[in-house]
Amino acid sequence: MMNEKKLEVKERLERKYEKLFTEVYETPELGSKKTAEIIADLIREKNKNGETCVLGLATGSSPIGVYRELVRMHKEEGLSFKNVITFNLDEYYPMPKEHVQSYWYFMHEHLFDHIDILPENIHIPDGTIPENKVFDFCQDYENAIQEAGGIDLQILGIGRTGHIGFNEPGSGMDSPTRMVTLDSLTIADAAGDFQSEENVPRKAITMGVGTIMTARRIILLAWGEKKAAIIQKAIEGPVLDSVPATYLQKHPDTVIVLDKEAAAELTRFKTPWLVRQVTWNDKLIRKATLWLCDKLNKPILKLTNRDYNDNSLGDLVVKNGPAYDINLKVFNMLQKSITGWPGGKPNADDTQRPERALPYPKRVLVFSPHPDDDMLAMGGTINRLVEQGHEVYVAYQTSGNIAVADDVVIRFLYVAENIAKEHAIDARKVYRAIENKKQGDIDIPEVRQLKTLIREAEARSACHFLNIPDDHIFFLKMPFYETGTIKKASLGQKDVDLMVEAMRKVKPHQIYTAGDLTDPHGTHRKCFNSLVQALEKIKTDNWLNECRIWLYHGTWKEWEIADVDMAVPVSPEELKKKRSAIFRHSSQKEMMFPGSEDVEIWRYAIERNRETAKKYDRFGMAEYEAIELFVEYVLNR
Ligand code: F6R
Repeated sequence: MMNEKKLEVKERLERKYEKLFTEVYETPELGSKKTAEIIADLIREKNKNGETCVLGLATGSSPIGVYRELVRMHKEEGLSFKNVITFNLDEYYPMPKEHVQSYWYFMHEHLFDHIDILPENIHIPDGTIPENKVFDFCQDYENAIQEAGGIDLQILGIGRTGHIGFNEPGSGMDSPTRMVTLDSLTIADAAGDFQSEENVPRKAITMGVGTIMTARRIILLAWGEKKAAIIQKAIEGPVLDSVPATYLQKHPDTVIVLDKEAAAELTRFKTPWLVRQVTWNDKLIRKATLWLCDKLNKPILKLTNRDYNDNSLGDLVVKNGPAYDINLKVFNMLQKSITGWPGGKPNADDTQRPERALPYPKRVLVFSPHPDDDMLAMGGTINRLVEQGHEVYVAYQTSGNIAVADDVVIRFLYVAENIAKEHAIDARKVYRAIENKKQGDIDIPEVRQLKTLIREAEARSACHFLNIPDDHIFFLKMPFYETGTIKKASLGQKDVDLMVEAMRKVKPHQIYTAGDLTDPHGTHRKCFNSLVQALEKIKTDNWLNECRIWLYHGTWKEWEIADVDMAVPVSPEELKKKRSAIFRHSSQKEMMFPGSEDVEIWRYAIERNRETAKKYDRFGMAEYEAIELFVEYVLNR
């Protein structure tokens, strides 16, 4: 990794808001590989000098790629871990070792079982000791670290609360290893792993911030856009005990390793004009102008030369000004992206519209990762497409059966049992299985089958409500999802083939698909990748020349307006209709927005559309009830 001293002046200026040394990689894989190389170099160097190498290790999704690469190096390059001593950051409490969600299990599954580390050199906080022994245990843990010579290199992830280890907001900079209570956002983020929030342990034993700060070197890893906001605070914000990761700013040798998405909120990426000379293109002009509107709380057409000059946008005015010209340009760009005709307006001049007028009607294929993402993200747009005469097909990529609670199954089963035996499900067996189910148990196939059927019935009902007929609805049931647990399998050939088949069946003029890569368990990302791989396979199909691809965002985060290519207004009546379509997914009605205790996902989805409309209003555009947003995905063929 680079060293701060070696940075050119230009680069140092670009990073002037960054108080922690940060490296940004194209992908998590590249960042993980680089980190693994650093660890391996350290192990080898220590080994050469006959010394032990003391590593502080983290669990969670962030370091998995690093561990995978270390295992590969051990197997293929003979990297030995005989001289390595490890101390893990934390463990849930209470937590038996053999529980699939224990950090003990995690570390063995991802690393220790595949390398030649000596078992006696592994240290992980013990989630099984009685509560009255925890204090002594924590002191012993600290002593053991010291006796081993202190931590040479500490690997960290970061929680969305800003926690490092399980040091939640409020932890002191010199806090020791101790028992802590988890933050509600951390519990919500872990809910997926434990099937539901109620199953997540409320407590944990964690190395303290003070303990972490004694490590000689620290590398903190973060991937994906859901970490972008907290990463910005950790790197550019003031040191605050409400964001424990900011304490790292006081550590002498910490490097933050990010992928592009996690780095997106840093000044040099989000508002590059503040830290360097930029080449102004239309996209950047739009971004800067809307940023200025937000900052000054002013509509586009009221921005003045002075506003631009006073806010580090003098260069934009010099090169593209005066303000009047820039304002008009951006206003028109936004105006042209707003359309009530998402499938194109037949018999109208389409030169200034996001979609072509012809062909009309269009065949439209909507991909939905889970059964309900379609309605949550673009129910209003689907409704318009159908009403405007287009042939709309919906393909549900996964069964979504993990997200159906057992009590919902019991309700449906009772009805099914008493009406039809069609699916030949042994009702007694299902009742028994659910009754005897313990936390962490995988559902028996019959229960999963029922959960799948429940989601299919709901998705059908929502589609029917918007006049999409049965033969326009596909359930792909992509196999990568069917593990019975939150952890999904890798994308396989079968998954990609199912996408190819759906597309070839419809030969759509428009594809709508989830383009967000942030959903908590990575399903959206995998579904998007399956589309990319499928498109690669069929890139010579003629119908693709006529096809445009529109990306919507899952509920977790909306597109930035500056990036949007098509904004579809939703009237008050249409918004009610969208809500009713969402409600057809009754098994999902009580799902809470991650990190919130009282906002259901459906409510959030509707409010998000209203919020977007308010933003357009603030920019000085027409005032709508709600708006759904899309970004065009341009195919490289
Ligand atoms: C794990 C740990 C936590 C995680 C953090 C991020 O041992 O201490 O601080 O590093 O919650 O988790 P992921 O990597 O799953 O996003």
